[in-house]
Amino acid sequence: MDQPLRVTVTAETNPAAYLKEEGFSQMAEVNVSGWQQVCALDAIPELGARVVKSAHGNIAVFRNAENEVFALLDKCPHKGGPLSQGIVFGRKVACPLHGWNIGLDDGNAVAPDVGCARSFQVKVDSGQVWLEV
Ligand code: FES
Repeated sequence: MDQPLRVTVTAETNPAAYLKEEGFSQMAEVNVSGWQQVCALDAIPELGARVVKSAHGNIAVFRNAENEVFALLDKCPHKGGPLSQGIVFGRKVACPLHGWNIGLDDGNAVAPDVGCARSFQVKVDSGQVWLEV
């Protein structure tokens, strides 16, 4: 029998005050596996991200200028920086700690850097963002 979906949205404090002001401070939580509806596309700031708590750890769901969405474990492959607080450009995000560029499609660091953040399937349907966890 399927477990009921439980999505909880809570206010969380981000370290950088400007991020809070820009609406980066909401966090969703998914507690079951499979495709889960996490938020409206508009709830993700353009060129930013929203964090979803999951059994895998925090997942950063990004939105770029073309309204494409991507999902990566919120942990830079360099030293674990919060990718959700990075700057999205094209199909990449710049880590806020040391500036590594991480591909949003697959989580791979852009050469010459080496490493990979786990990626997750994500899609938009009728303005709602769905994440496979
Ligand atoms: S932790 Fe991301 S570049 Fe260092």
